[in-house]
Amino acid sequence: MFYPHPPAPPPSPPPPGGGPLRAGLTAGQKWLPPKWFYDADGSELFERITALPEYYPTRSEREVLATRAGDVAQLTGAHTLVELGSGSSEKTRLLLDAFTGHGTLEAFVPLDVSESALAEATAAISADYPKLDVRGVVGDFTQHLDRLPGGQPRVVAFLGGTIGNFLPAERAAFLRSVRDVLDEGEWLLLGTDLVKDAGVLERAYDDAAGVTAEFNRNVLRVINTRLGADFDPDAFEHVSYWDAENEWIEMRLRSRGWQTVEIPGAGLTVEFADGEHIRTEISAKFRPGGVEAELGSAGFAVERWWTDSQQRFGVSLARSVRG
Ligand code: SAH
Ligand code: AVI
Repeated sequence: MFYPHPPAPPPSPPPPGGGPLRAGLTAGQKWLPPKWFYDADGSELFERITALPEYYPTRSEREVLATRAGDVAQLTGAHTLVELGSGSSEKTRLLLDAFTGHGTLEAFVPLDVSESALAEATAAISADYPKLDVRGVVGDFTQHLDRLPGGQPRVVAFLGGTIGNFLPAERAAFLRSVRDVLDEGEWLLLGTDLVKDAGVLERAYDDAAGVTAEFNRNVLRVINTRLGADFDPDAFEHVSYWDAENEWIEMRLRSRGWQTVEIPGAGLTVEFADGEHIRTEISAKFRPGGVEAELGSAGFAVERWWTDSQQRFGVSLARSVRG
């Protein structure tokens, strides 16, 4: 599916009765896939999170891109910029501006599971960069990388620290799958949030205004809308904590009381005990050596590593290598 031409049909609903939803809600420790946060409301809530005083990652990554976008354009000389999990593509404009100055870029290909976010971003970017071929792709970056067009040499940008929302084994498989669709010598620009003081991390995922709590509960609203479920989001409490051993923030929803939830679209009835948790997201934080090692195992060689002035967020530019 491509934006802005032609308009796309609505995104297909998840498979009834199967898939990760059933697996997650019938597991001993219940869990939900994080991509289910992102309907139109979820995308909007995420944008509100990025403006919160406690949520530093967006500002920190923006600082890096503001100073290093020119280097990315010069080092890669890319003809196509692909962005996975692009959302509003706001920070990406720093890259587009640098590439416009450099003169090599012909196409911008944002891919996102959130159709509303993608439609808005592609319309705004097409208007502001009229010479650029903007081709939005509605899709899941764990399944649909084959929908990406050519236009070599390409840079694939994966920003915001979204790589941290995978479990470690999923992360390795994802990085390898990106490597597999690239030709040797093409590029990955990866944003990784870094390990830091636990208080700073915990505040970023439990803001005073309660926006992150609403974002967390939105996953239940999405299941209600898409699968006709009867979750009462207010009957679940937002929980987030720093898991120092795994070096990730974990977000959960805690059931207030015993509840039974019907999910007709998945043919499921789910019982929740009082105080029972559903894990809704992990957000792994990284160390520079770890990023380099994981990229190396996936077939990338790190050519540049940049951080913001407070060393909160890292951005790596890596080249795909043989193997
Ligand atoms: N890159 C942006 C947005 C980050 S929020 C930034 O740095 O601010 C994460 C984005 O990834 C959302 O727009 C969400 O819709 C998208 N997303 C989450 N899981 C996805 C998946 N499996 N496939 C494609 N997009 C996904
Ligand atoms: C999209 N992703 C990188 C965000 C994060 O920080 O892990 C999602 C988010 N969850 C809570 N706040 C923001």
